[in-house]
Amino acid sequence: MRAALVERYGGPEVARVAEVPTPEPGPGQVLVRVHAAAVTAGDARIRAARFPRGFALPARLAFGITRPRRRILGGVFSGVVAAVGEGVAGIADGAAVCGMTGMRMGAHAECVAVPAARLVPVPEGVSHEDAAGVLFGGTTALHFLRRRGGVGPGMSVLVIGASGAVGTNAVQLAHAAGAVVTAVSSGANSALVMGLGAGRVIDHTVADVTRLGERFDVVMDTVGALTMASGRRLLAPGGRLLLVAADLGQTVRARGAVAAGTSGERPEDMAELIGMVAAGTLRVVHDAAFPLDRIAEAYARVDTGRKTGNVLVRP
Ligand SMILES: NC(=O)c1ccc[n+]([C@@H]2O[C@H](COP(=O)([O-])OP(=O)(O)OC[C@H]3O[C@@H](n4cnc5c(N)ncnc54)[C@H](OP(=O)(O)O)[C@@H]3O)[C@@H](O)[C@H]2O)c1
Repeated sequence: MRAALVERYGGPEVARVAEVPTPEPGPGQVLVRVHAAAVTAGDARIRAARFPRGFALPARLAFGITRPRRRILGGVFSGVVAAVGEGVAGIADGAAVCGMTGMRMGAHAECVAVPAARLVPVPEGVSHEDAAGVLFGGTTALHFLRRRGGVGPGMSVLVIGASGAVGTNAVQLAHAAGAVVTAVSSGANSALVMGLGAGRVIDHTVADVTRLGERFDVVMDTVGALTMASGRRLLAPGGRLLLVAADLGQTVRARGAVAAGTSGERPEDMAELIGMVAAGTLRVVHDAAFPLDRIAEAYARVDTGRKTGNVLVRP
């Protein structure tokens, strides 16, 4: 099969497509022929060894000291079942499925082998592009807003980075939960985030969000624009600060009103998000999609830090 390999840390150009052996599905695993895979901010961080402050050492220990331990990156995919391993029941060849691969990655390829328990069916009417697009930002937004923020009806929610993969989901999920959403994006993306359910947009190119006079029940920062102190100043009494892109110091100190850390990859969250996409209540925002051969261009787009929603490759 063909796969995008990242054999050293560096710029987008280090990703190159080559022929590699197709993985065999092991016991309990399913081999998926990938139709669409997301190229996420997470993939770009690993490819470039560009981690939030303080995470360089732990991240290199996890992902590879001098070069990526797993040379095929990509943590999110949608495709069809090509083969099943021993002990897998109830998943038919040809079924449409999507999922996340965690630390094993491997989705930037024509095929990926994944534990069956991590797969979620893609219903008819949901495209592989939408399924692959929704999971990274959707699972993150869902986890932080619901489990860490307790977002519910009537709450005021500030989403910083509202036009990104996490932000486009956060705006919609908070709005769907009955919250009043204030979005922070550039003016160019203001119509987009209003269309997703924001009641108001603050243009970060003209206003300094840390100097807002207002207070919010939940502040979600997907950009790293806030310190703990500047974030706390934006909170109403009893409010919660969700630092999605926290550095190590913030992660270690986060407690009480402040939440950081990783969102996890729960199949039940994925199924809920896919269900919302199928029902038309969650829109997947796409920035660009590239053939696998052009993965370097996909990474270059992600590296701008300006993508709206999702960048995909279509192996
Ligand atoms: N904790 C976790 O488990 C977890 C999970 C997933 C992701 N993350 C992290 O979350 C972060 C966001 O991920 P993502 O995939 O959403 O990123 P992304 O899609 O690359 O975000 C791009 C967006 O950020 C916006 N942006 C850039 N600077 C901004 C600013 N100063 N104020 C407001 N918006 C700004 C841009 O909007 P404009 O062009 O309009 O400025 C662009 O639309 C990444 O650091 C990622 O590593 C953490």
